[in-house]
Amino acid sequence: MTGRVLFAVLAVLFSAATSQAQTSGQPAQTTGFVRLDRVTASRPLPNGLELRSGSAVVQITALRDDVVRMRVGPAGDLPEDASWAVLAAARTSSASVTPDSSDTSVGFHTAKLRVTVQKEPFALTVTDFDGHTLLTQLPSRPIEYNGASFRAYFRSPDDEHYFGLGDKPGPIDRRNESFTDWNTDAFGWQESTDPIYKSIPYFITFRRGVSAGVFLDNTWRASFDFNKEYRDAFSIGSEGGALDLYVLYGPSPQAVVRDWAWLTGKTPLPPLWSLGFQQSRYSYYPESEVRRIASRLRSEKIPADVLWLDIDYQLKNRPFTVDPERFPHFEQMIQDLKAEHFKTVVITDLHIADLPNSGYKPYDEGVAGDHFVKNPDGSTYVGIVWPGKAVFPDFTRKVSRDWWGTLYANFLQEGVAGFWNDMNEPAVFQVASKTMPDDVQHRIEEPGFKTRVASHLEVHNFFGMQNSRGTFEGLLRLLPNTRPFVMTRASYAGGQRYAATWTGDNSSTWNHLRQTVPQLLNLGLSGFSMSGADVGGFAGSPQPELLTRWLEVAAFQPIDRDHTAMGTYPQEPWENGTAEDLNLRRHYIEERYHLLPYLYTTAEEMSRTGSPIMRPLFLEYPDGAVDKQPLDLADSGAFLLGHDLLIAQSPFPDELDDYSVALPLGAWYDYWTGLEVATDTNRINVDNTQVRQPEVHIHPSLQTLPVFARAGAIIPEQPLVQSTDEKPQGPLTLRVYPPAVVGAPCSGSVYLDDGVTYDFQKGQFTRVAFTCTVTAGGLTVTIQPRQGSFTPWWSALAVQVYGASKPASAAASSALDGSAIRTLQTNYDAAQHSIAAIVPDDGKGLRVNFTY
Ligand code: GLC
Repeated sequence: MTGRVLFAVLAVLFSAATSQAQTSGQPAQTTGFVRLDRVTASRPLPNGLELRSGSAVVQITALRDDVVRMRVGPAGDLPEDASWAVLAAARTSSASVTPDSSDTSVGFHTAKLRVTVQKEPFALTVTDFDGHTLLTQLPSRPIEYNGASFRAYFRSPDDEHYFGLGDKPGPIDRRNESFTDWNTDAFGWQESTDPIYKSIPYFITFRRGVSAGVFLDNTWRASFDFNKEYRDAFSIGSEGGALDLYVLYGPSPQAVVRDWAWLTGKTPLPPLWSLGFQQSRYSYYPESEVRRIASRLRSEKIPADVLWLDIDYQLKNRPFTVDPERFPHFEQMIQDLKAEHFKTVVITDLHIADLPNSGYKPYDEGVAGDHFVKNPDGSTYVGIVWPGKAVFPDFTRKVSRDWWGTLYANFLQEGVAGFWNDMNEPAVFQVASKTMPDDVQHRIEEPGFKTRVASHLEVHNFFGMQNSRGTFEGLLRLLPNTRPFVMTRASYAGGQRYAATWTGDNSSTWNHLRQTVPQLLNLGLSGFSMSGADVGGFAGSPQPELLTRWLEVAAFQPIDRDHTAMGTYPQEPWENGTAEDLNLRRHYIEERYHLLPYLYTTAEEMSRTGSPIMRPLFLEYPDGAVDKQPLDLADSGAFLLGHDLLIAQSPFPDELDDYSVALPLGAWYDYWTGLEVATDTNRINVDNTQVRQPEVHIHPSLQTLPVFARAGAIIPEQPLVQSTDEKPQGPLTLRVYPPAVVGAPCSGSVYLDDGVTYDFQKGQFTRVAFTCTVTAGGLTVTIQPRQGSFTPWWSALAVQVYGASKPASAAASSALDGSAIRTLQTNYDAAQHSIAAIVPDDGKGLRVNFTY
């Protein structure tokens, strides 16, 4: 070999090696097989421990006393310390630890957790100081790398349950199931379809009241197996990227939810209008049709806040255009809808029509700024989607996201209120993979990350998240004091910081109505609390009763949006049903509007703590089951709205059979009758054992969706309005559900602000706390002085006490010194089993004493 040939060969090898290093994504991958079967060296760190196992390095650190992170570098270097999901402040925080070691193990402890690594075989265990094992590796299956892919196995006790993993369909408990994370346009998905749109590689364990969170921060095609390969183990793995694992300690499930919000961020406080009823359809055009829907909602007196425009408002499905024939007065229409108190949300898909030399701004600017995703040969990647040939902004570049954000300026100026980022898995038509080729090149040009080129395999699962981030941050730059409303279909862990979501293209079947409960609950536990399912179902046309029932159930879910596909029956509440159907549909939407103060207060709690709006029973009542198993297992259709309302849809809503709902221990009231629920603990199981959990028996009827209120709750409600723009006329109602026991806790609160801006951060909000105390001769309701500088719409309170069987008298006194203010008129409602007293409210606090 001549020197020149040798040089050329070396140059080729070198460039292959560098391009491999540049394109292989998060580095520290191996070729070949690596097994971490024993600890070969260890050294303590101030915040943890560094281990070696042959060629591999493992770092285990405490971010807080109750949050531990493990990172593995199979070839001896730790992976790049950067994350799309984890907030930098959380990722870089650290807690000091005390080293522990013995002949057979090394480890450390914090104030709350003990981390032990058995030396041979290498096995990590995380425990608390109350004897709970939170996570322990299966010693017989050490962590293995096969080329770039890896897998780790953990023990799964037979009474441990798993929740989370985002929008994946199927039963709420992930036990006995296996899953793949690969964002997929899954039109018409069914109960067993996996993967679908989102990748949230995070789950919560629950074992006899104790929970931990487990997060694999890995954006590649990851997978989770619960008790399938081994009945007593679960495993997590990925086909590339880093093994970067976080363990979040509860012990309560609510504490884990808060940890997750600390780690990956909270869902921001949404605009109030997004909690109103929303009407959508794929094919609302032309303009006159949109106006017809709007005026019909008003003339039918169906409260509503939002109309959605799907792709058909655009010229030839080109994002950021408006079809001038179908919508000749687009801006005027938006303004007219505004005047009717409707907000408009428009779709803005991420695929930009491939239209050179046509004066199409998103394309021209995108080319000029070099913003589009490229093929390996440097040409722009082109895929077929709604507009035909399309190109895709490279959302992994901050500069491209920032540019994307500027595209919203016109729509905002025209008065559009919110934006819909669909198809961002990204979906590509006419290819078997339904997405971009694995080898398209994304440029990671991002503060906090090493600048490099990454393949689509690394970027695919968080591409949609970065699309919605570009939108959210762009809107904030354009209108800094307006809370953006963005809805995304695809996302990754942490995406809740930027967008609400929905469950994509479901179907108009009873089973899909049933699926909304586990799906929205698991989304909420995964951080995505502002979620909804297409009400009535997207694919196909619902039976009239199904549409009615769906509108009933969705009235108690976080996002209430009726949406359907092109070509299906009309699906607005007045369509496809009898006059009685319409009345029921209206009635339940009205109930949602009555409940808006409670819903908004719950949303504000979500934005502060990360606690979802829609909650599984085990989250609020980890000790609520006599057998310590989650009450949400099996086929329960029950869920909580906030802390205090339990909605008990039938587990099989198409069946005529009666059903029983297991209620958390404690007393409950029927929300509709105001009566305390008579529960039963006498049912006998098929195996002849007695059911000890209090149950309520329900005879299903379309007229009544069973809803229960917790004894000890105070739920704020408002007079009916037709939209959130309208000022409620009358008092704020406090629905008081007295606890069964004298002296037992009883509380509630209400939060309010202007509903649209960030002025609440400057103190312009109202927060009022309420308590109640059952006394020997009656009940005292205490209304604390108002906090915050925002003036609420009410000037009186209607205190309404439930569970009453006879009239009572009432008197108001000052909350400060108990001095008497006045005797109050009371009103006894025998049908509602309630006593109401109206009292003027100047915000200074007061006490209302009811004497029976
Ligand atoms: C996708 C969306 C659906 C939308 C349609 C047309 O299927 O999931 O909601 O209506 O595209 O934009």
